[in-house]
Amino acid sequence: MNTPERDGAAAMRLEAENSEQPDANGALGGPRALAGRHAFLATDQGPGFLELSFARRASTRGCDGASSWLIGREAEIQDIIYTLLSHRFVTLVGPAGIGKTTAAIGVAEDLQSQFNSAAYFVDLSNLGDAESIPGAVAFAVGHPPGAGEPTVDITRRLSSGPALLILDGCERMIEKAAAFAKHLYDTAPHVLVLCTSRQPLWLEHEHQFRLGPLKTPPEGSGLSAADALRYGAVALFMDRASSSGLAASLCDADVPLVVNICERLAGVPLALELAGSRVGTYGLRGTATLLDNRFRLLWLSRRNAVPGFQTLQAMIDWSYNLLTGSEQFVLARLAVFGVPFSLAAAQAVVASELAHEADVARALISLLDKSLLAAVFVDGQRLYRLLDLLQTYAEGKFAAVADRADVLERHAGYHAAPRKACAAQTRLGPQIDVADPGLSLSIP
Ligand SMILES: Nc1ncnc2c1ncn2[C@@H]1O[C@H](COP(=O)(O)OP(=O)(O)OP(=O)(O)O)[C@@H](O)[C@H]1O
Ligand SMILES: [Mg+2]
Repeated sequence: MNTPERDGAAAMRLEAENSEQPDANGALGGPRALAGRHAFLATDQGPGFLELSFARRASTRGCDGASSWLIGREAEIQDIIYTLLSHRFVTLVGPAGIGKTTAAIGVAEDLQSQFNSAAYFVDLSNLGDAESIPGAVAFAVGHPPGAGEPTVDITRRLSSGPALLILDGCERMIEKAAAFAKHLYDTAPHVLVLCTSRQPLWLEHEHQFRLGPLKTPPEGSGLSAADALRYGAVALFMDRASSSGLAASLCDADVPLVVNICERLAGVPLALELAGSRVGTYGLRGTATLLDNRFRLLWLSRRNAVPGFQTLQAMIDWSYNLLTGSEQFVLARLAVFGVPFSLAAAQAVVASELAHEADVARALISLLDKSLLAAVFVDGQRLYRLLDLLQTYAEGKFAAVADRADVLERHAGYHAAPRKACAAQTRLGPQIDVADPGLSLSIP
């Protein structure tokens, strides 16, 4: 195994224990061919996060070789692999902390057994500027630093056989990352390109794969602990809780409390692991109490906490600061809903002389694009909602807007007329009857 030096790019080589040659069309076999296959994983090096992750993964690998570090993403991993094998170019899209990088590594681990040569991981978040992308990728694939034109060498090195290239964190330099991914797709027909990004690259051959939250059981479902742990959100939360020192395993009596915590954290892996890591100190009930108010984001991100807590706040700040003025305007005011809302409701409540209805519609679409809003379907109707953690953040912004009273008034007025959509209880506006108590949401 070669050991390339590191020039700021994260390079990782996944060596295959078994390899499989592509068929005459270059296809690498379907997802079924992958089932139950877990090759030995070897890494040369990577940034801290990956080294730690891989170390943990290596140590938690079961004696059958199956990995246990990745929780609750089996179906998604197989779907992503299937899409990659069919289309060669996939972008995993989702908000900060939803698990894109983790899922991409899971894909690499499962796919590695299909490759004769290697899979490569390039962490774009470590790069100082977008111009370094070709150099970083070249380095990852073994091109010596300073040895001529990297882009040409990348294509040459990747043309000999099938390979997987992961470009992680494309949103930070979206245009250059998109241009590079397209170039690679066009010039290296054996390469599967897997990008992760908080927003799509919007390229012609790109297949977007929206990564949703980990699954949480429905509240009040009366599940046993064993059944609840089959849901990814519960399993991840409890895994981190026991790593933080919780001695007891989940018992049936605590299931409703844990399900409620997972629900309030919207199944977002980063939030689940940050909250889970407090359980050793505060206990399950204490952690739930700490989360039990609007200040949970503040709590999750308070300054003297472990670095990950600050990461959450920083990630949300980062995403917010990159928005255009009108996106920020709309996002802050959408906090008034607190529940899923329709486009018409958003326009009626947010639009004013400061922002026209068309601006609100445009902002809504681009917030969706940037993974700050989720689309949900209620009774077949498309609605939108802020992720729970973002809701809290947006409420903070909304508290400071000059036209807050006007927005609240329009919100009250909109709901005064009986309507089916959005007729759910709101947290910030006036209380409204729940028209459909069985309101069930599914995040696609
Ligand atoms: N399925 C999972 N199983 C176990 N841990 C997970 C899973 N998904 C995410 N995590 C953990 O949650 C945290 C956030 O995940 P990750 O870094 O993959 O998110 P991301 O979507 O790539 O975020 P960003 O947009 O900031 O890059 C990580 O610490 C990771 O270990
Ligand atoms: Mg990531």
